[in-house]
Amino acid sequence: MAARQDTHFGEQTVPLADKQGLVDGVFHSVARRYDLMNDLMSGGLHRAWKDALVTAVNPPRSDREFALLDLAGGTGDVAFRVVEAGGAGTRVTVCDINTEMLSVGRERASKHGHDDAVTFEQGNAEELHYPDRSFDCVTIAFGIRNVPRIERALAQAHRVLKIGGRFLCLEFSSVDVPGLDKLYELYSFQVIPRIGQAVTGDREAYKYLVESIAKFPKPKVFAQMIEGAGFRRVSFKVMTGGVVALHSGWKL
Ligand SMILES: C[S@@+](CC[C@H](N)C(=O)[O-])C[C@H]1O[C@@H](n2cnc3c(N)ncnc32)[C@H](O)[C@@H]1O
Repeated sequence: MAARQDTHFGEQTVPLADKQGLVDGVFHSVARRYDLMNDLMSGGLHRAWKDALVTAVNPPRSDREFALLDLAGGTGDVAFRVVEAGGAGTRVTVCDINTEMLSVGRERASKHGHDDAVTFEQGNAEELHYPDRSFDCVTIAFGIRNVPRIERALAQAHRVLKIGGRFLCLEFSSVDVPGLDKLYELYSFQVIPRIGQAVTGDREAYKYLVESIAKFPKPKVFAQMIEGAGFRRVSFKVMTGGVVALHSGWKL
C-alpha cells in the first residue's frame, strides 16, 4: 500500500489529498469580503504590490494581441489592472478553483466594464485544460502558497506559456529586517485574525492565511523551484522589507 503523503494547512499537518478542500472552504467563506479585507489587512499596500506586478507584465499599449493567464486570479484584481494598463488587444483569462471567488469577480468585471476583456474560468492550477503554448504571460498573485502541489502548478504554467513568455508570481515572503520582523509577526498572528473575525466572521480563515505565509519557502528556495519547472533567467525582488516577493521566470 502506498504511504500516505502529508502536507501543511497553516500550522496543521493534513493528508495532501485533503488540503485543496480545506483551502476551498477558506475562500468560499471569505469571498464576499475578500477585497475589503485585502485593503484593511495591508493598509492598501496590496495595490502597490499588484502595480509592481502589472509593471513587470508590461502589456502592450498598442492593439497588438496579448493573452495573459492569471492563475488563482480570484476576484479579478490583477486582471482588471492589466487590461487597464494595456491596449485594445489585451485579454486576460482568470482561472481559479473557487466558484464563489469567480462569481464576485464576474460581478466586479461587469461593474467596471471589463466583461469583454476579462474571462473568468474555473480550473485547478495543477491541471490546466489550456493547450500548450497558448499565453504570452502567466501570473499568479498570492495564490501559489494555497496550491497543494506547487511543482505541478509551476509545470503547468510553463506548459501553457508561449516560447518567450514570462511567468510572474507575487507572494508573501519573509521579513528579515531586524525589528520589523517581530512587529510583522505580532501584526500577522495577533491583529489579522481579529480583523478577519470582525469583517468576515471567520477568524480561522485568516489564521490559516497568516500561517500559510509562514510556511511558504524562502525566496531563494522558491526561485529554485521555478527553475526546476524549466524556467530560465529566474529572478526575484523583495518589497516592503520582505513582506512580499515578486518572482519572474522566462520560457526560452
Ligand atoms: C489569496 S487569493 C488571491 C486572489 C487574487 N490573485 C488576488 O491577488 O487578489 C488565493 C486564490 O487562490 C485560489 N486557489 C487556491 N487553490 C487553487 C488551485 N489549486 N487552482 C486555482 N486556484 C486556486 C483560491 O480560490 C483564491 O481565489
